[in-house]
Amino acid sequence: MRTSSIHYTIAPNDEQLAAAADLIDYGGQLAEKLDRYRFQQSSVIVVAFEDAKVVGVAAVKRRRGDAAETGYLVVHKNYRRIGIGNYLLTRRIEESRKQGLAFLYTNVRAMNEESIGNLKKSGFQFWGNFISRYGTPHIISWFFYPLIDQVDFHARMKVLTDGMKSVT
Ligand SMILES: CC(C)(COP(=O)(O)OP(=O)(O)OC[C@H]1O[C@@H](n2cnc3c(N)ncnc32)[C@H](O)[C@@H]1OP(=O)(O)O)[C@@H](O)C(=O)NCCC(=O)NCCS
Repeated sequence: MRTSSIHYTIAPNDEQLAAAADLIDYGGQLAEKLDRYRFQQSSVIVVAFEDAKVVGVAAVKRRRGDAAETGYLVVHKNYRRIGIGNYLLTRRIEESRKQGLAFLYTNVRAMNEESIGNLKKSGFQFWGNFISRYGTPHIISWFFYPLIDQVDFHARMKVLTDGMKSVT
């Protein structure tokens, strides 16, 4: 398989969205089955294909004012480490900027080295580690990406992680 055989869309049709949702359920890190309605409410969805086969998906969730959370990222296990995850992240940053968003944030299990490596490579900054608010034993790492210079990322991340138990 060659990277040149991979193509992308930010306007998936219903069938492609369903296949992308299946991939999230199959290979994602969600604690529960995907809420497909919420997934489809995302402000950006990028889908990667090889021919007609969906091999990767990622989204920027529904915006909250000028901020939004990136999520729903999965690359099919046979297609990893060839740059698809990196493209899916940088494309989401680009599309978020076009939509006038000022701030992106995300959280990921602290042990998820591949996802954390991907975030850092694309310029996401580490905010801190916190105990999962869902009562699971996982430590969750929070990251952010300001899309404009003027954004007070400190204040925003404090609000987002307010009340969570910090882990050093
Ligand atoms: C995380 C994930 C999307 C990365 O996708 P990918 O297409 O393999 O990523 P890329 O090939 O674009 O790699 C981008 C960077 O991520 C990091 N990375 C990717 N896989 C890695 C691994 N196994 N170990 C360490 N770093 C890794 C590296 O920094 C890499 O850059 P490099 O290849 O120049 O070193 C993929 O591993 C995946 O689908 N994992 C399961 C689902 C998941 O964890 N989703 C995120 C939940 S929040």
